[in-house]
Amino acid sequence: MLDQGAPLQNPGQTAASGSPGIGARLMRRKPVERLVAEGGQGEGGSLRRTLGLWQLTMISIGATLGTGIFVVLGEAVPKAGPAVTLSFVIAGLTALFSALSYAELAGSIPVSGSSYSYAYATMGELIAWICGWCLVLEYGVSVAAVAVGWGEYLNELLDGTIGVTIPAALSAPPGDGGVFNLPALIVVLLAMAFLLGGARESARANTVMVIVKIAALVMFCAIGVQGFRSGNYENFMPLGMAGVSAAGATLFFSYIGFDAASTAGEEAKNAQRDLPRAIMLSLVVVTALYVLVAAVAVGAKPWENFTDSEAALAQIMREVTGQTFWGTLLAFCAVIAIASVVLTVLYGQTRILFAMSRDGLVPKVFARVHPKTGAPRANTLIVSLFCGVLAAAIPLGQLADATSIGTLFAFALVNVAVVVLRRTKPDMPRTFRVPLSPVLPALGFAFCIWMMGSLSTVTWVVFGVWMAAGLVFYFVYGFRRSRLAPSEK
Ligand code: ALA
Repeated sequence: MLDQGAPLQNPGQTAASGSPGIGARLMRRKPVERLVAEGGQGEGGSLRRTLGLWQLTMISIGATLGTGIFVVLGEAVPKAGPAVTLSFVIAGLTALFSALSYAELAGSIPVSGSSYSYAYATMGELIAWICGWCLVLEYGVSVAAVAVGWGEYLNELLDGTIGVTIPAALSAPPGDGGVFNLPALIVVLLAMAFLLGGARESARANTVMVIVKIAALVMFCAIGVQGFRSGNYENFMPLGMAGVSAAGATLFFSYIGFDAASTAGEEAKNAQRDLPRAIMLSLVVVTALYVLVAAVAVGAKPWENFTDSEAALAQIMREVTGQTFWGTLLAFCAVIAIASVVLTVLYGQTRILFAMSRDGLVPKVFARVHPKTGAPRANTLIVSLFCGVLAAAIPLGQLADATSIGTLFAFALVNVAVVVLRRTKPDMPRTFRVPLSPVLPALGFAFCIWMMGSLSTVTWVVFGVWMAAGLVFYFVYGFRRSRLAPSEK
């Protein structure tokens, strides 16, 4: 059992030291016992434990399956050719190693801060902050990227049903031929409305949407396979291994979100048992679907023809059947599918900020809980408006890569955290253990760094600027207001 009443011990905050040095303050760790004991508690109320294994798995699948397969696949095929199937496997392996580490930590530290909290318990506050800041890229910025993909499919749907599309000025951001991406803003606001109703209501809506998207991808495979030409596979790797890994890095975006269940740690009925299961189950389901869909897509359409990236799967359906109906039906399902990503990823972002706020690293308003719905209301409003405006103003491609680099870095840290926790707390109860540790976490770490290396220089520059901004915020705000800061001892 976890010792809930254990005394708080933070490096550099011993009674004898009085005023700890800056190095020790940056390294202060939040004890696992305290993380767990504070679970659910917010400002003025608590989160509610309403989610079971089924809903948690649906949250992870909901957050994962979306723009990556419906839209980004179309951008990745020109980079790798038919070997895009291999790119999916490589990206999936990277996700798998990290998923194992997530599963172990989510089962041992079942709180809503996900990898931010795991890093806080194992590597100290500065690294935890860096991790949390990367999670804002993984969740907050990816909501924006996903919302942009939603708008593309909405246009496809409108075109197929009523024959009109939203003009570019109102459906694309500046830099992509438009002024403002209105659909992207609308889907974020819709998700916000669900989240304000509470976690259980949002999870219910998400479950229906996830069933629709899985059905849509199965339908795509069943119909697409009729247009399968083995000749399309003849030149399997036209751009070599470099193309395969570049496409893999881009497609890593499609795996982002499997960890979303770990942000529901404080709303799960049996978090320690169910979180590891939900994470692993969701990864298995999405990997199988991705490889199948990619194999059918490049079998049905020569890779050189993937020039127009928007709504790639709907176009293939139309081309294979010769009827617009099927393409339109797929577009309809994609609109629902991608909305569920927006909903669940937005959910994850609010819960991560909730945990960071409770620790004093971001303003208290993010931890305020509405007494009736049990939802962090102000948090949800602020995050939704931020993501909505971002989605409306920035092109998808740049956002997707920025998301991937931040996520990969956070995943790399999770792999380190598993090994650290095994050393610092070897006897702690664990409902799931990564097999062959530290070999698999080391592989997970290496894959993440390798994938980061495959991303473009522009993405690295964006990442550098993002991290610099995060460090400035930490030193100006969180460093002194942290609840582990000496003044609060
Ligand atoms: N994995 C999520 C998607 O592909 C972010 O939409």
